[in-house]
Amino acid sequence: MNITLRQLKVFERVARRLSFTRAAEELYLTQPAVSMQIKQFEEAVGLPLFERLGKKIYLTRAGEELYRLSRTISQQLEEADQIVEELKGTDAGRLVVAVASTVRYFAIRLLADFCARYPKVRVNFKVTNRKGLLVMLDDNEADIVLMGQPPEDGDLVAEAFMDNPLVVIAPPHHPMAARKGIPLEELRQETFLMREQGSGTRSSVERFFAERGLAINASMEMNTNGAIKQGVEVGLGLGIVSLHTVELELSAGRIVTLDVESFPIMRQWYIVHRSGKRLSAAGRAFEQFVRQEAGRFVRVAMPPRESVDPTAAPGASPA
Ligand code: PGA
Repeated sequence: MNITLRQLKVFERVARRLSFTRAAEELYLTQPAVSMQIKQFEEAVGLPLFERLGKKIYLTRAGEELYRLSRTISQQLEEADQIVEELKGTDAGRLVVAVASTVRYFAIRLLADFCARYPKVRVNFKVTNRKGLLVMLDDNEADIVLMGQPPEDGDLVAEAFMDNPLVVIAPPHHPMAARKGIPLEELRQETFLMREQGSGTRSSVERFFAERGLAINASMEMNTNGAIKQGVEVGLGLGIVSLHTVELELSAGRIVTLDVESFPIMRQWYIVHRSGKRLSAAGRAFEQFVRQEAGRFVRVAMPPRESVDPTAAPGASPA
């Protein structure tokens, strides 16, 4: 069988996604280029590897067998890559760091400092929500992830490195802005801008209110913290976001945090990698840097701790 590593890589991605379009996007190729690679791969194998039923594609029996093997080969190639990175040391390693959309606010500053200290390390930096990060970990597409508490059954190594307080934000002229100890029930009269399904912030907020037998009125869904902050500023509703996402707006007086009973919801940030992953020297240096220095990159003072997110407790359900 005369196949190339490139064909194997393209095949593996199409088989994983069961989509030529998604594989092309992820590999930065055009769809005709992906189709061509698959055609040549099938010719070299001498059997069809995909079949099309309606709009969907499926693996044939031969496709399934080769997919299993191609995953093993890709893992071994990645291991070879990591050994080479390891030999290069922190002087010239490569690193894929993925962070939650909520983490990115301080992670950029942290990264700038890390890169100044290790100028030869090449970092690929990705930002997505909690759900996207879990997919990336599952697909082995990130070396290190910074996120809320990951699920315990995910075959992951996770270590908390910093508190992540979730606060209620409002425009400065809001009638509740000057009040102290606002009863939680009063939030039921307000409308909220909520993050999208798949956001760790959103699931924490939903769990917090469900555990207290309360429901809040989510008037609008927005898929970025930036949109929520702007929406709050212009009076579209209140928001519940990580304190680390609103440093600038708070210091500029564009929004305020409300002093609501049982807030902040206290979560924690975790540094995560797949268990069994062989981190390169650059990866280990980055982990160490985050553990020791992350606190320096958060500029806003934490409100007093009143409530603790139950997911932060050992053995609790995922955040
Ligand atoms: P986000 O935060 O998904 O709300 O951006 C990440 C997390 O809480 O894990």
